[in-house]
Amino acid sequence: MSKNFYITSPIFYPNAKLHMGHAYTMTLCDILARYHKLINEDTYFLAGADENTGKVTKAAAEKGQTLDVFLGEITKGFKKLYLDLDISFDQFIQTTDKENHWPGAIAVWNKLVASDDIYKNAYEGLYCQNCEAFYTDKDLIDGKCPMHGTLPEKIKEENYFFRLSKYTSQLKSKIEKDELKITPESRKNEILALFERGLQDVSFSRPIANVPHGIPVPGDPTQVIYVWCDALVNYISALGYGKNENELFKKFWPADVQVIGKDILRFHAAIWPAMLLSSGLPLPKNLFVHGFITSGGKKMSKSVGNVIDPISLIDEYGKDALRYYLAREISPFEDGDITVEKFKESYNANLANGLGNLVSRVMKMAESYGVTIDDESSEFWTEKTVIENLETFNIQKYCDEIWNVDIKGLDEYIQREKPFSKIKIDKAGAEKDLKYLLIHLRGIAMKLQPILPETAEKILKLIKENKSPEAPLFARKD
Ligand code: ME8
Ligand code: MG
Repeated sequence: MSKNFYITSPIFYPNAKLHMGHAYTMTLCDILARYHKLINEDTYFLAGADENTGKVTKAAAEKGQTLDVFLGEITKGFKKLYLDLDISFDQFIQTTDKENHWPGAIAVWNKLVASDDIYKNAYEGLYCQNCEAFYTDKDLIDGKCPMHGTLPEKIKEENYFFRLSKYTSQLKSKIEKDELKITPESRKNEILALFERGLQDVSFSRPIANVPHGIPVPGDPTQVIYVWCDALVNYISALGYGKNENELFKKFWPADVQVIGKDILRFHAAIWPAMLLSSGLPLPKNLFVHGFITSGGKKMSKSVGNVIDPISLIDEYGKDALRYYLAREISPFEDGDITVEKFKESYNANLANGLGNLVSRVMKMAESYGVTIDDESSEFWTEKTVIENLETFNIQKYCDEIWNVDIKGLDEYIQREKPFSKIKIDKAGAEKDLKYLLIHLRGIAMKLQPILPETAEKILKLIKENKSPEAPLFARKD
């Protein structure tokens, strides 16, 4: 029986269109999902939208649209970006979906209540709507939200709390032992340090006036389930948890890997696993935490004027060009940077020259000398170093090897053996060279499949049909 592989992405807030950071997360997820599909695992890749937030209520009102129309337009934009980037998600879960999401959220809430982990309390404190998070004074910088630099709201209300504190030592031990493995190690240490200071119980509901379309707390229609409690459940509600039909849940939970950005580590490494423990459900196996993308060293923002829209790069350079940059030029474990200049430079050096040039040279010779190779199986996936990098989420290193070893190796082979000269004096020798080049070029194309799916397919087709590309795979940009 083949192995199952379940991968989740964060569900993004549909209060505005997606940006480069979102495109980055989804590209990483997609690369891993495609790799696991390629090695014949039964793979399920979840995407979605986190809709039950006051941010959405506000954004819809500002546009003078009903919630349904507003969400319809925005999530169409999400899916358009995913299509444009070749993101191969299997399902798109939306938290306003009463049929597919709410039963799971309500079932989890009831489990938390049954475990005596929900209690009513007066809350007085600070709330950042942008983060959808509660803060204490010491979290703030000059009284402002550490993430957004905005003033948090002062809140005084009665709501329901979740006994997060109860799970501190259990979570600590599971994370220390890698039962819930956090990659990279630095993020694991960050969360362990938080456990060291002790976890505090968290407010888990808001008055319904704040999010009129939120999920009412079972038994108390004056409150809605706090957006993070609601949203985190998407990872299992999407599989049918809380419904009678839950074949997907039985098959795919616990998740093999949950991919997130560093900003939402606490929610995924403390609150979510505590909710699962309280519900008597197994924890995900891996949490892969990537860094943040900046532009010119600064957070992208309209006021700085350094926003780079993923769609504009795709329109100008193609989907695989953007996938390439995100996979190769940004470390998956640290912060990374993108500027239009760096993008163009890397594109010209590694795609127009590097890969594109190699494909043209090899295929031109193969075509004119009439050299072909037999169709073969995909045995190279068993190459240990290939697999290791993707199993450990080291996508950048995986790409480095393709460019620094495989592509470079073939360029050097051509330079050394000069089949284009050899053909005039030693036909058999040149043909042997071409066979070697084609076999290895096919190896490169196979390895590129999860990273640059469209390009990999084009190269495999050229090899199969013994044709040189009519136009360069990546036209040089000046
Ligand atoms: O937090 N660089 O949604 P969100 C890289 N709805 N990645 C970035 C980034 C950047 N500069 N900015 C954002 C939410 N991201 C919740 C999630 S999950 C149950 C609920 C990515 O729309 C990164 O993956 O604010 C981050 O975790 C996510 O966008 C936050 O997206
Ligand atoms: Mg955010």
